[in-house]
This record gives sequence, structure tokens and C-alpha cells, in this order.
Amino acid sequence: MKIGEPEKFIIDGKRLDGRKPGELRKVKIEVGVLKKADGSAYVEWGGNKVLAACYGPREVHPKHLARADRAILRCTYSMAPFSVTDRKRPGPDRRSIEISKVTRQALEPVVFTNLFPRTAIDVFIEILQAQAGTRCTGIVAASMALADAGIPMRNLVPACAAGKVGGEIVLDLSDVEDNFGEADLPVAIVPQKDEVTLIQMDGNFEKGEFEKAFKLAVEGCMKIYEIQKEALKKRYGGA
Ligand code: CDP
Repeated sequence: MKIGEPEKFIIDGKRLDGRKPGELRKVKIEVGVLKKADGSAYVEWGGNKVLAACYGPREVHPKHLARADRAILRCTYSMAPFSVTDRKRPGPDRRSIEISKVTRQALEPVVFTNLFPRTAIDVFIEILQAQAGTRCTGIVAASMALADAGIPMRNLVPACAAGKVGGEIVLDLSDVEDNFGEADLPVAIVPQKDEVTLIQMDGNFEKGEFEKAFKLAVEGCMKIYEIQKEALKKRYGGA
């Protein structure tokens, strides 16, 4: 057993933070929180606190990156030095470069980039506080910042992870579950399109468990999708 590893993850049907296996942490989304960005969003998801800011469509620098037929989407994920227990060295590292890339791939399919040739749409994701699942929180925040900027999109992109802890499939891992659990499966989808735009896996599932975890993650995405739509209604009204 590793240092800090709990003896049991589920006691009397409840997880260590009191949630049921299929329950999300508390999620709060607000859009339009930054005056100087074209679009922005703030997401609290359990102990994660994440800001996203969108700029564009705007001129591309450096110019050679511009595409004649579409806008380029650039996503930058970064963790504040104070976002984790051990101070994180500022600046990009392998992990943040990877998460920036998968975030772009998760969002690109919904953005009508063809409407804005020779431009760039930039999204910056700042992790202010991290508590497992920051890539999903970042994708949700970025998708809201794009919508807040008025970028034409086919849909919002919700994201959510499922995983395996103490032999059980659970939704939305907490930090202890992420550190000591058996598997983590973050997923992003385009609702109504049956499209999966992010799927990564850390750890191991046994036969049949992957399908169960995937289904649970998609259900989590649909719950997040409702909260995303509510946040837009709250800011902009509408039915
Ligand atoms: O955040 P996410 O689950 O998408 O990615 P991860 O690479 O699986 O990281 C899991 C968690 O480890 C993060 O959410 C942070 O809470 C923590 N972490 C950390 O404490 N220090 C780092 N330099 C990176 C991650």
C-alpha cells in the first residue's frame, strides 16, 4: 500500500467524499467573467477552479500559420504555480503540451472554422486550483468561452471522466481516487451527434468494465451539458 492510500474507497455504498458511485462533484459555471477577452468562462468543479479566455477570430501571428480556407484554433492549457500542493514550475511542460493538444482536438470538430479563413481563434485555459479532472474542466470552460465569444459552433462540448476505484466503476474521480484508483477514462462528446472528441485512458480495466465506464462517462457528459446550457441561459436569457 502506498503512502496516503485509503484502505477502502467505497464504504456502505458511499465514496470517501460522500458521493454515490454515479454522482458528479458539484459543478458551477459562469460565462462572461473577463471584460478584456472576447469570451470567457469560470468553472468550479469539485476542487478544480478554472478560467478560460477566448480571443478571435483575429489576425494570425506568425503569419505562416494562417490557412487560406479556415481559421486555426489554438488552445493553451496552463497550471498556475499555486494550483497544486507542490508548487508547479511555471511554463509549458510535457503534460500541459499534451493537454493543450487534446483540448484543441476535442473542440475543433464543433467550431465552424471555415467561416473565418486566414484568422486565429485562441483559447487560454488557466488552472487556478487543481483537484483531478482538470483536462475535462478545461475543455468545458474553453467550450463556454468560445460560445461566450460568439464563435459559431455546432454545439457545446461537455467532458467528464469515469474510472475504477476499489474494484468499482465510478463517475468523476476525486484526487485520492485518481491517485490510488485502478483506472481513469476522460471523455468529451458532441451531444446529439454521437461523436467522441476526447478519449484517453490511464490504468487498467477488466473485460466488460471499459464499456461500463465509457457509458457512465457519457452520462456524466450529458449532465455537464445541461449545466453548460443553463450557464448560457443565465447570461443571455432565452428559452
Ligand atoms: O487533471 P487531469 O486529471 O486531467 O490530469 P492528470 O495528469 O491525470 O492529473 C491528475 C491530477 O494530478 C491533477 O488534476 C492535479 O490535481 C494533480 N497534479 C499535480 O498535483 N501536480 C501536477 N504537476 C500535475 C497534476
